[in-house]
Amino acid sequence: MAEPKKLYIKTYGCQMNVYDSERMAEALEGYEETATPDDADLILLNTCHIREKAAEKVYSELGRYKHLKAENPDLKIGVAGCVAQAEGAEIMRRQQMVDLVVGPQSYHRLPELEAKARSGAKALDTDFPEELKFDHLAKRPKAKRGPTAFLTVQEGCDKFCAFCVVPYTRGAEVSRPVDTVLDEARGLVERGVREITLLGQNVNAYHGASADGERSLAQLIWALNDIDGLDRIRFTTSHPNDMSDDLIAAQGECEKLMPYLHLPVQSGSNAVLKKMNRKHTAEQYIRLIERIRAARPDILISGDFIVGFPGETDQDFADTMALVEEVRYGQCYSFKYSSRPGTPAAERALVDADVARERLTRLQRLLTTQQHAIQDAMVGREVSVLFERAGRLPGQMVGKSEYLHAVHVSDDSISTGDLRRVRIAQSAPNSLAGELAHG
Ligand code: 5AD
Ligand code: SF4
Repeated sequence: MAEPKKLYIKTYGCQMNVYDSERMAEALEGYEETATPDDADLILLNTCHIREKAAEKVYSELGRYKHLKAENPDLKIGVAGCVAQAEGAEIMRRQQMVDLVVGPQSYHRLPELEAKARSGAKALDTDFPEELKFDHLAKRPKAKRGPTAFLTVQEGCDKFCAFCVVPYTRGAEVSRPVDTVLDEARGLVERGVREITLLGQNVNAYHGASADGERSLAQLIWALNDIDGLDRIRFTTSHPNDMSDDLIAAQGECEKLMPYLHLPVQSGSNAVLKKMNRKHTAEQYIRLIERIRAARPDILISGDFIVGFPGETDQDFADTMALVEEVRYGQCYSFKYSSRPGTPAAERALVDADVARERLTRLQRLLTTQQHAIQDAMVGREVSVLFERAGRLPGQMVGKSEYLHAVHVSDDSISTGDLRRVRIAQSAPNSLAGELAHG
């Protein structure tokens, strides 16, 4: 058999890109992954377009591979992901050394595109094809896996928030059929996975086909709950308007569903929410959080915020701070608004850059204080930890609690993949530490 060729994939952005990169590696038979671009026969950049000079970053990364291409004329270079979708053939015009450009909905065509690139032609596919890439990808997880895995169940978005490129780069909202999701989940569990995170840009809008009609995300979660050997289920990212009653109930009732919910609100100001086309108010969001906490009182809520959205006033920003005070987040991502070409908000006047920066600093200070308060309150409590890997200290292992906190424990009896009870003894800025609970 021929020596396998070497594939280097660099992944930017969200968890869905991480999942997609794994699927691309599997689709490219005859390749094995390498950890550095230096000895690669094919380099793939799986790019993100959500914020800030994403495209520029890709061009400068490509520039770094110029010498590799000079040394190895057989090296092929490809750009995948949302920048590939947004820029298309422009990438090849600007960087002649790019051989292959593939958008997120065409990854199942990667083997053909790779063959075309190998033959010396330029290969480009940024269509939104009729057939679902999922019908062709993702069926054959190859090797043994770690204890946690991502599984994409839904992709694309029909919400059209005024700032967001996702509806343009990932396309319209589609859900994978229930059976294919369950098959993939069983395959992962057979390969050692104990925790699955269901992924979707709008995961709680999931409405997958099944023999008995469409199924909601909550129904999918209940079906996954029956898989022996699967211990934990998570899902991300949810939209407040798709948080259905059955999903809220499942947070309280489904034993394997973890008490952690990523529920972005973006702003606490109704005027800004309206300009963002979010189709919900701050009060509706807060009421929703109350209902979720009524179902599962210890749930950890996380979110995303954008500051400096066009037209955001001091009062709007004060409303965001007030919402954060009220919700009490365990973990958050917050960003300065960045104009995305092609989105409705891109045409609007920007907030002064210094004002936006100062607001972001204030918001992040508050969010960090909340995160630490929630972590500190874990001290003395017992949590369950799924251990994922060795830590930096000898004998130390790191895993995640049900609340997604990283937890360090030094104990020789722990192996990767163990699910153990741990008593938390310390809270550090971004992790917890403890000891195995006995008895
Ligand atoms: N500018 C800043 N942040 C953005 N996000 C999405 N689009 C933009 C943008 N144009 C943030 C949102 C979203 C997260 C994934 O990225 O908060 O929830
Ligand atoms: Fe983007 Fe809004 Fe869709 Fe989320 S819901 S992916 S922020 S358009």
